[in-house]
Amino acid sequence: PPINQQQVEEGNLWRSDCRVKGGSPGFKVAILGAAGGIGQPLAMLMKMNPLVSVLHLYDVVNSPGVTADISHMDTAAVVRGFLGQNRLEEALTGMDLVIIPAGVPRKPGMTRDDLFNINAGIVKTISEGIAKCCPKAIVNLISNPVNSTVPIAAEVFKKAGTYDPRRLLGVTMLDVVRANTFVAEVLGLDPREVSVPVVGGHAGVTILPLLSQVKPACSFTKEETEYLTSRIQNGGTEVVEAKAGAGSATLSMAYAAVKFADACLRGLRGDAGVIECAFVTELPFFASRVRLGRSGVEEIYPLGPLNEYERSVKRSVWRRQRRSWVEALIRVCPSQ
Ligand code: NAI
Repeated sequence: PPINQQQVEEGNLWRSDCRVKGGSPGFKVAILGAAGGIGQPLAMLMKMNPLVSVLHLYDVVNSPGVTADISHMDTAAVVRGFLGQNRLEEALTGMDLVIIPAGVPRKPGMTRDDLFNINAGIVKTISEGIAKCCPKAIVNLISNPVNSTVPIAAEVFKKAGTYDPRRLLGVTMLDVVRANTFVAEVLGLDPREVSVPVVGGHAGVTILPLLSQVKPACSFTKEETEYLTSRIQNGGTEVVEAKAGAGSATLSMAYAAVKFADACLRGLRGDAGVIECAFVTELPFFASRVRLGRSGVEEIYPLGPLNEYERSVKRSVWRRQRRSWVEALIRVCPSQ
């Protein structure tokens, strides 16, 4: 008989849920905003990840089409689609990891702060769903401005009594991916051999690549430092302008999100030595190098020795970050 929409959305398992129940010992992952520019390639790449056994694709538009398409890939993860806000709770129930690229992207001339009013409301609703349906899940928040959406999620979780700072992570991996690429170009190396810690915030000048701590050890001239810092800080704008109205970074972001989600899943599995940069609350300096484990962030590393240039950027980042946090608090708790 022809397959119907419901079968596609439910994962089309003719002979019981054996692949989910008895099958591969993977994790359950939900992508919220799965039909978007980031969401679609992210869903495809997560379907290819052997650590994933169940993949829930949720959006307020077009998720059935994306689900049908992705579900034809012959990889192990079972895919289920959820369309519309009334399916949010179902999409979230039982999840180990929730990845959130829901929201509007930047257009030319817009700053990340311009996105705040729209995306703040979306993140608030989604966070309420997570607090209710999967309060122990690791949350990877991509929706911008991460500097403010992470504090919003934190405040929602605090109100619901489910807040655990180890499990709420803003995804700044794209800054690291760009830094590795641009530094490798300057040094003439394979980007896979290069590791650049990027700390601070996730908007323009708040992004602080620690070029003094690049591995393999190297040094840069003043000109190279200025070029690299500026290109890493403005990488998002470079893509927004090149796309000329058609959105912001989606493909490199999906790649970065999967790299980060995979690290979170390896941590959940109990792998040793999983270290990445992420935007974490309850930190003096919000994006830092962290060790990921079974309960999310298990260790936060100090920033290490900074040079004079990095110290001066750090001071101005701290002031801006405080402002983002206050804005988020006003949004979630207007009376306070
Ligand atoms: P997009 O507009 O292509 O996709 C967003 C998706 O979210 C759409 O499918 C939309 O239907 C969905 N959506 C809207 N409201 C929703 C709701 N209430 N619940 C569930 N889904 C909802 O945008 P794109 O390019 O995928 O970007 C998504 C977000 O990621 C933007 O906020 C963007 O600024 C951010 N971003 C973050 C980066 C980072 O490094 N953290 C880098 C690039 C983008």
